[in-house]
This record gives sequence, structure tokens and C-alpha cells, in this order.
Amino acid sequence: MGFKKLDFKEFSKEEMLARSTSFLNDIVSRRTVREFSDRPVPIEVIENCIKSAASAPSGANKQPWQFVIVQDPEVKSKIREAAEAEEKEFYGHRATKEWLEDLNQFGTDWHKPFLEIAPYLIVVFRQIYDVEDDGSHRKNYYVSESVGIASGFLLAALHNAGLATLTHTPSPMNFLGEILERPANEKAYLLIPVGYPDDDAKVPEITKKSFDEISTKV
Ligand SMILES: Cc1cc2nc3c(=O)[nH]c(=O)nc-3n(C[C@H](O)[C@H](O)[C@H](O)COP(=O)(O)O)c2cc1C
Repeated sequence: MGFKKLDFKEFSKEEMLARSTSFLNDIVSRRTVREFSDRPVPIEVIENCIKSAASAPSGANKQPWQFVIVQDPEVKSKIREAAEAEEKEFYGHRATKEWLEDLNQFGTDWHKPFLEIAPYLIVVFRQIYDVEDDGSHRKNYYVSESVGIASGFLLAALHNAGLATLTHTPSPMNFLGEILERPANEKAYLLIPVGYPDDDAKVPEITKKSFDEISTKV
């Protein structure tokens, strides 16, 4: 593997400020949506957003991720059924009192109709190791960090395209690997319903920490 000249575009200070302000103003309008419309969305848009995600940095460039795009209504139904079974357990028994208190403000419960309504479910898998042609295993590095960064790119790209997302983590998520028949080296990481929000979609009135709270200058 050789090296090539970096393709880097420099902006003036004014352009940098304008671009960073414009990105900020747009990204702060992203909200997690839990009520989706079933309106169709072109698959090319989803593919572009996944390609954006796949450009993310990763430990030793291992790119330890797999994005499964679910559109088949039968598969979506299976996912909903399995997710609701886990979530019933979670809300009924597994969640601690403190966790349920923290979730109270979102009005969520075990019902997950959006898993059938949203036109796409993107299931992100992390690959805990690679399988070589001879069947041997090869280590991946910083897998969670890498897949987390790629997932952030994905959410930002989908928002930029004008789509709503929910970052969903029905726990545990092993059923996703089973239903989607993924190999043993892949573990489900996030389940992301994607589409237009329902016309009447509401979001909880939450606040984000201030810049001073979340940053320190030295
Ligand atoms: C790793 C992760 C897991 C999440 N899991 C769920 C979930 O299972 N169900 C849900 O309704 N929201 C889930 N959320 C969404 C959060 O509740 C939401 O991001 C948070 O309340 C902030 O709201 P915002 O995304 O609109 O800014 C999750 C978010 C993250 C980052």
C-alpha cells in the first residue's frame, strides 16, 4: 500500500464560520422521532446515507460494520414481534426503578408500531472479528468506538437528507441477528427506523446541556 496526495479543500475564515454555523443550525433541529409515516422513501437516499456512514474512520481501517436495510413487511413484522417481547420484559421486570424514572419523560412503553410503519429499518451490526478466507478469525480494533462514529455519520446523513430517525436499542438485541440470519461474528448494535415523521408526530420537550457544561478550555 502506497501513499497519495491528500485531497484537502481549505476555506477562508469567513467561510469556515459560515459553514460551521450553517451545519450547527441544521443539526440542532434533529430530533428522535417515535411516530412515523408509511410514505415511501427512495432507496437511493438510504444507500447514499449508508455510503456516508461507511466513510467514517475506524480502528486500523477495519470498517467493522454491516448495515442491513429491512424493507420486507414480513421481516419488519417479525422484528416488531420479537422487539415487543423483549421490551415487555424490560418495562415489566428488567428495568430498574431509576431507569424507568429516566424514561418517563419520553412516554415510551413496550408498544413498537413504528417497527412496521417506517418504510425502512436500518439494523447496524458490529463485527467483533473478521473471518478470513480460510475460516480463521482476525481481530478488529476499537469496534464499539468505530461503529458508534459510523452510526453518528449515518444519523447526520439521514437528517441532512430530510429524513427522521429513531435510535432504538431493544435490549437484548440478539433476535436481530437470528431473524436477519447474520453470521456469528456480527452483533446487533442499533435498530434505526427511518422515514418521514407522521404528520402529527410529537417529541418530548427536552433540553440539551449548555456549551459551558459540556466543554472545558485549557
Ligand atoms: C444509544 C442510544 C439508545 C437509544 N435507545 C432508545 C430506545 O431504545 N428507545 C427510544 O425510544 N429512544 C432511544 N434513544 C433515543 C434517546 O431517548 C434520545 O436520543 C434522547 O432522548 C435525546 O433526544 P433527541 O434524540 O431528540 O435529541 C436512544 C438513543 C441512543 C443514543
